[in-house]
Formats: sequence, C-alpha cells, structure tokens
Amino acid sequence: MFTPPDPYWLRPMARHDLPEVREIDRLSFPTPARAGMFEHELEQNNIAHYLVLGRMGGDNGRLNPIIGFTGFWLIADEIHVSTIATHPQWRGRGLGELLLLALLFESYEHPATMVTLEVRRSNTVAQRLYRKYQFEEVGTRLRYYRDTGEDALLMTMPSLNARYFQFLENQQAALFQRLRSEA
Ligand SMILES: CC(C)(COP(=O)(O)OP(=O)(O)OC[C@H]1O[C@@H](n2cnc3c(N)ncnc32)[C@H](O)[C@@H]1OP(=O)(O)O)[C@@H](O)C(=O)NCCC(=O)NCCS
Repeated sequence: MFTPPDPYWLRPMARHDLPEVREIDRLSFPTPARAGMFEHELEQNNIAHYLVLGRMGGDNGRLNPIIGFTGFWLIADEIHVSTIATHPQWRGRGLGELLLLALLFESYEHPATMVTLEVRRSNTVAQRLYRKYQFEEVGTRLRYYRDTGEDALLMTMPSLNARYFQFLENQQAALFQRLRSEA
C-alpha cells in the first residue's frame, strides 16, 4: 500500500474504525450497509479487503478523522470493488481517486488480472471516476438495486498489465502533486 502525502493517511480498516465508517456510509448511499455487514466483512469474509483513508489533525472535534473508505473482494484472479465512498465534506479534492488508486495498486499485489464493479446508472460522478481509470461498461444488471429498483452498470478494467501499472504510476504522481498543492 502506498503512503499518501501529508496530511493524509491510509491503512487497512479495523473494527474500531466502524463508527466513523458507518457514518460515511450512511451519508453516501441511498440505503446504508445492513447492521453487522462491516463486522462480517472484516472478521469472517476471507476474500474481503478494506482500506480507510484519514487526515491528520482535528475535524469537528475528532482527531485524525476517517474521511473515506473502500473495499474489495478477491475472487480467484478478479478484484470486485464492493464499496468506495468519501465523506461529503471532503469530496471533489481527489480523495475518491486516491482510494481507487490504492485499491488498483493492491490488485497487483495479490495478483489479480481484472477489476469489476457495479454502479448505479444515475451515479455519473462515480462512473466518471471509473472511466478516468479506463473502466469500460460491459453490461447492465436490470433492477439490481432493491432499494430503488435502479439498474446497475457492470464496469470492468480487464487488463491489469505492465502498461496499466505505468499508467497508475503516472496518475499517482499527478494526484500526489495535486494533493500536496491543495493540502
Ligand atoms: C464517487 C466518490 C467516491 C468520488 O469521490 P470524490 O472524493 O468526490 O472524487 P475525486 O475528487 O477524487 O474525483 C475523482 C474523479 O471523480 C469524478 N468526479 C468527482 N466529482 C465529480 C463531480 N461533481 N461531477 C462529475 N465528476 C466528478 C471526476 O472524474 C474526478 O476526476 P477529476 O478530478 O480529474 O475531474 C464520491 O462521490 C462518493 O463517495 N459518492 C457516494 C458513494 C458512491 O456513489 N460510491 C460509488 C459507488 S459505485
């Protein structure tokens, strides 16, 4: 896992992070994760990997708050992105991109050969982030989201090869420069 520039930090999610993670989850999705879902993912699901992104310093009375998280399942040689979210107060600053980049670099460590995810058809912000990282739309899962009945777009990044790794390194350099200049 890479080390982001100060004041940001990144590490595997732990159980004591869950109150903050749940709060971001609640603020980010139409239906929050069901009770016990994160505990199950951290403690019982061997294929699940979760990361939290935080910021050194204080924010609304919290010290070194968590400001985003992501998770994926490793299924054979496939990484499936299960979730990604940044706190609404911290959006638009490159931090969702930082989380996706961290996940994509981790994919090489397992190693996986492809990344897949589902995204709501209406979620154009997330789709734009995924397209920036060369994900392609490969299908639709009709009425996939039970809460709203919305369709999911199935997106994949099919070629985690050396060339894409180089692309990620270039993206990382540009993003770190941006984060340093805006910190
Ligand atoms: C999707 C999400 C994680 C993006 O995080 P973020 O911190 O706001 O995103 P970033 O600032 O890192 O932006 C990364 C890219 O996302 C896209 N993006 C971000 N905000 C956008 C906006 N308001 N409009 C359009 N595209 C946007 C752009 O492609 C952007 O790249 P750019 O900076 O080169 O333009 C965040 O919006 C979120 O938590 N949403 C709610 C949860 C969710 O929908 N998760 C995805 C489930 S599939």
